[in-house]
Amino acid sequence: MRYFISDYSQGAHPDVLKALVETNFEHTDGYGLDVYCDNAASIIKSLIGKPDANIHFLVGGTPANVITIAATLKPYECVIAPHTSHIYMHETGAVEATGHKIYALDTEDGKLRPDMIQCVLDEFEDEHMTLPKLVYISNTTELGTIYKKSELEALSKFCKEKGLYLYLDGARLGSALTSPENDISIKDIANLVDAFYIGGTKNGTLFGEALIVLNDEINDHFRFYIKQNLGMLAKGRLLGVQFEALLKGGENSLLFKIAAHENNLAEKLRNGISDLGYEFLSESCTNQIFPILPKEKIAKLREEFLFEDWSSVDDPSKFAVRFVTGWGTTDDDINALLEALK
Ligand SMILES: Cc1ncc(COP(=O)(O)O)c(C=O)c1O
Repeated sequence: MRYFISDYSQGAHPDVLKALVETNFEHTDGYGLDVYCDNAASIIKSLIGKPDANIHFLVGGTPANVITIAATLKPYECVIAPHTSHIYMHETGAVEATGHKIYALDTEDGKLRPDMIQCVLDEFEDEHMTLPKLVYISNTTELGTIYKKSELEALSKFCKEKGLYLYLDGARLGSALTSPENDISIKDIANLVDAFYIGGTKNGTLFGEALIVLNDEINDHFRFYIKQNLGMLAKGRLLGVQFEALLKGGENSLLFKIAAHENNLAEKLRNGISDLGYEFLSESCTNQIFPILPKEKIAKLREEFLFEDWSSVDDPSKFAVRFVTGWGTTDDDINALLEALK
């Protein structure tokens, strides 16, 4: 079997694992108050050019989203997010379970624009409704698309004008930043949003996300929210060790090398599939691609490959599937899949 099911189906990148093994016998403080978390936080602060940023290491994407939103909103405030977003579609209502409604907007490409958000603001008017206060976006989006700099600037400006917080889910931020179509730097992101995270789980760590809180209002008693929402790891140094290994070297770090590898192979696959005459559900330029294939072909592929069914399409004889490349995907995997698709 060859695996295109996700970018977290293998363990850690060998360099990350090596760092874990090399530090294994050391004793450190717990709960993220260790030297490795400090080192990783310093690297992130210099990478984003914000010495005063607040950095928190969390075990996964769902906890990062739930905890950030819980820490940001008052009980009656709600979230605006794309209909395709992870918090709306794939987190079992974890955000809503903390009491915050998610107002989901239909989008073709997984992205939000100011005019879409304005339509929501026009509808929500008094204390008989929840109050929109946080805009959730992801980069890459769940459809593999990315925000251009002008789009993120427009969203940021709009959110500031309307008194909304802007939070960016970066589960696949590495892939977004190394996409050939990307024109945003991580420093730009840090200047434009109130909080965002750098995903490790889908970018070579065993687990873990590095949350960066830029707005001090959100950071107020943040560690209390982490603990109360079950997100505080006693052996927190496991996160620090991994993120230090992933990020040391800053812009030349392993994070970006892994992400570029994932994107390059996904691009090769996308071009090959396109040359075979197949269409795609979205214009992804990152490490998840969504070709639309005949159902018979999909059944045949399943004999050799693992991948996800994504969504139905207008033509009932076809279905959109998702292929994802990870740190361990090889050229050979791509060639085998393209061969089988012929
Ligand atoms: C954009 C995005 N956010 C958050 C998550 C959730 O991460 P986890 O499964 O680590 O909770 C995922 C997982 O696929 C994701 O794609």
